Amino acid sequence: MQDTILTNKEGHVGVCTLNRPEVLNALNIELMDTLIERLEGFDADPDIRVIVIAGSEKAFAAGADIGEMANASLVEISERNNLARWKRIASVGKPIIAAVSGFALGGGCELAMHCDMIVASESAQFGQPEIKLGVIPGAGGTQRLTRAVGKFRAMEIIMTGRFMTAGEAFDAGLVTRVVSKEQFFEEAMQLAREIAKMPPLALKAAKEAILAVANTTLSMGLEYERRLFYSLFATEDQKEGMKAFQEKRKPEFKGK
Ligand code: CAA
Repeated sequence: MQDTILTNKEGHVGVCTLNRPEVLNALNIELMDTLIERLEGFDADPDIRVIVIAGSEKAFAAGADIGEMANASLVEISERNNLARWKRIASVGKPIIAAVSGFALGGGCELAMHCDMIVASESAQFGQPEIKLGVIPGAGGTQRLTRAVGKFRAMEIIMTGRFMTAGEAFDAGLVTRVVSKEQFFEEAMQLAREIAKMPPLALKAAKEAILAVANTTLSMGLEYERRLFYSLFATEDQKEGMKAFQEKRKPEFKGK
């Protein structure tokens, strides 16, 4: 049986590549379970500081596997408890970069939106076409897309099911960088390598604080940030970072 997720490590960067090319990387249960297992593995691996999730040049992922859902009853679909799977992806503490080319649709767009940054090729197409199948996004699309691009654009994208180009997604605030289709993966790796030079505990704190924006008021968020900021003064990396600045040398961060 083919491995639905290919993994490799390059320095402090862990890469998960979706590998169901025959169905444009449609997310079936086996792929999702393998992806979660690999992501949690990288999250627990002290050598890994940043994770990249990539698809192929043709498709990041064309959505949840329609073949697995088409005949499901209400009871069957709810008993699959996919929400629990997505929550595990959302719980990964290390920064995740999506390297997106081609189709990022439905669950594929939602997977990209579970990541912390999206590097897109100029051929990327983002969309939530579930409405055309008689449903709505089921892995956070109504919530995360709206937070990324605002109510009025999200309504139109979700209600028409149309695809956004990489340029439109960039202008709308969904995408971090757009590059050529030859360069998108290397650009995502370059960004990952750059971030992997940073102190790992501060990276986790930054991710936690930024994601808290979705669930908090400004005053509570500022309080949360303050506590995380103070907590970093208990780390060796803070001492090293500030000392290295004063000594005019490069810091050596250890994640401690
Ligand atoms: N599930 C299962 N199989 C899929 C798939 C999906 N989401 N997307 C594509 N495939 C399969 C096709 O059935 C086809 O298989 P066969 O060769 O065996 O026929 C193969 O991948 C290639 O696809 P196409 O021939 O359709 O390729 P295309 O270039 O003509 O079109 C596409 C590409 C526009 C992405 C089209 O495949 C498409 O519309 N796919 C479905 C997109 C979609 O609706 N996604 C949402 C799924 S629901 C969801 O994700 C719910 C959620 O929120 C969690």
